[in-house]
Amino acid sequence: MIDFKVDSARCTRCGQCVADCPSRIIVMATGEYPSIAPGRESVCLRCEHCLAICPTGAISILGFSPDDSTPLDGNLPAPGQLETLIAGRRSVRRYRPENLPPELIGKLVSVASFAPTGVNARKVRFTVLDDREKTARFRDEVMDGLVRLLAEGAIPESKAYYARFVKVWEKHKVDLVFRDAPHLLVVTAPESLSSPREDCLIALTTFELYAQACGIGTLWNGIVSWAIDRMLPGMRQRLGIPDDHAFGYAMLFGRPAVRYARTVQHHPPEIYRVP
Ligand SMILES: Cc1cc2nc3c(=O)[nH]c(=O)nc-3n(C[C@H](O)[C@H](O)[C@H](O)COP(=O)(O)O)c2cc1C
Repeated sequence: MIDFKVDSARCTRCGQCVADCPSRIIVMATGEYPSIAPGRESVCLRCEHCLAICPTGAISILGFSPDDSTPLDGNLPAPGQLETLIAGRRSVRRYRPENLPPELIGKLVSVASFAPTGVNARKVRFTVLDDREKTARFRDEVMDGLVRLLAEGAIPESKAYYARFVKVWEKHKVDLVFRDAPHLLVVTAPESLSSPREDCLIALTTFELYAQACGIGTLWNGIVSWAIDRMLPGMRQRLGIPDDHAFGYAMLFGRPAVRYARTVQHHPPEIYRVP
């Protein structure tokens, strides 16, 4: 039940909801208000484009009222600000030893959940280590596992770079992998979706940008992802990741112990314009 409702006092019958519906299930007969075509409700993508596009805020759907949405006019960041955020985002490898408040973690994840997903599936699962003691315990287990694999000669030559970090941990207990970050986020999604891995990576990209806008440091983590997903079979279960989920990626985050003063500069990207 999608609960599509039109406020006839506000609706001007402009037809924008009809034209923008990706599933083309909204109809409007002459002299009538928009409605869902009979028998077509199940095709609704639940994207809420009808609620978003209506210029007068006449459409409610899925129990959401347009009055509870943020108007876009006057509330969007300027392009230059967004560009500075994108170019000023850094991989943070030094963290303060403190937990983020649970409400802030909840807010970061909830904003990230607005990232687009294939056919609007929105099934990305956010697995969070929300306490630095938990993260440190998990780190110790992962690093112990990697030290064991190293001793068994089970770390492939192609990952010699990772093996170096494991050796540093083994010898000096210096953490070049988890970077003593207070929190870990792992994103996964059901393998049965049309684009589970893409959905995960887009969600994590969105999480990172929003987190950094809030002054929170983040670090994409290839080593932790590889360890959990490929090398240490018990770790998926340890994190409660369902067996039928595709592994997306792991990201460390927390209050940074470092402050970057400026953006970096990149040489122009490769653009191939098809003749
Ligand atoms: C998919 C991915 C995996 C990464 N894995 C690691 C990692 O395991 N450890 C690490 O220190 N940095 C990791 N990074 C961070 C990159 O090294 C970093 O993005 C790059 O050096 C550029 O720095 P910047 O992010 O500050 O621009 C990873 C980045 C990406 C996108």
